[in-house]
Amino acid sequence: MKKIGIVGCGAIGEGVALSINKAASNQFVLTALADKRKTAAVSLNKKLSKKAKIKNIKKLVEEVDLVIEAASQAAALEVIQHALGHKKDLIILSVGALIKNPNIIKEIRTKKINLYIPSGAISGIDGLAALSQGNIKKMTLTTSKPPAGLAGAKYLKNKKINMGKAIKPVTIFSGNVTEAIRHFPKNINVAATLFLASKFDKIKVIIKLNPKIKKNIHKIEAVADEAKIKIEVENASSKMNPKTSALTILSVQHLLEKIFSSFKIGT
Ligand SMILES: NC(=O)c1ccc[n+]([C@@H]2O[C@H](COP(=O)([O-])OP(=O)(O)OC[C@H]3O[C@@H](n4cnc5c(N)ncnc54)[C@H](O)[C@@H]3O)[C@@H](O)[C@H]2O)c1
Repeated sequence: MKKIGIVGCGAIGEGVALSINKAASNQFVLTALADKRKTAAVSLNKKLSKKAKIKNIKKLVEEVDLVIEAASQAAALEVIQHALGHKKDLIILSVGALIKNPNIIKEIRTKKINLYIPSGAISGIDGLAALSQGNIKKMTLTTSKPPAGLAGAKYLKNKKINMGKAIKPVTIFSGNVTEAIRHFPKNINVAATLFLASKFDKIKVIIKLNPKIKKNIHKIEAVADEAKIKIEVENASSKMNPKTSALTILSVQHLLEKIFSSFKIGT
């Protein structure tokens, strides 16, 4: 029986914990939760029929076989450092942390740790990853978000962008993946996922504020010698966090199904 620990008991952590709990697998079990807000971990634990232990990140990593990080870039780095020391497998949601620290992926490979990155809020990752073997000429990610999906982003404050005043769609950012992750660490993990899948280092990221929409919309256009790919995903937000898409939670559940292949979540 593999032990799973979840770091971050917010929208994703809670959704995934509840699905694991409901599934009652004989292959894996949720044994530990960590959150810098202990109240979040306690409150989630109360909702679980099979209780987990609440630990700090270090102790959680030591105890479990697979860590699901669903907290923040800082937490992802802490989790990875401990996982490297104890050779534990990882599912990382705060993917931007990997882009900011490219040596980490090399270290993870050297230690032969399994690092899983869910497709998150986008789809079509299989085809985009296939193109990494070909000759990509151009790739653009255009993300449109309602004000709630961008609330709290420091970039908007620094640029004196008043979201309340926007009455029509407006481009608030255009740049590369590294800049996008730096300015929007909580909003644009999909850019990092796209880069890691396609290995294309000239992805253009455009972020639009659209007061007329309620959903987060991601459009990906890739042009390669071998194929042109267009993907558009219209995401409902998770109930707990308007910045996070419900599809992201499902993508982690699906990933667990793939890792533990004879197991079906929700059955
Ligand atoms: N890969 C993707 O496609 C994708 C999509 C959405 C969100 N995300 C990322 O996943 C992460 C979780 O998203 P969410 O919607 O569940 O967020 P959330 O804000 O709802 O919950 C995050 C939880 O993590 C806790 N936390 C934050 N920093 C921590 C730390 N250093 N140590 C311990 N706990 C910490 C918070 O207290 C909170 O309870 C975020 O980094 C988010 O940007 C990734």
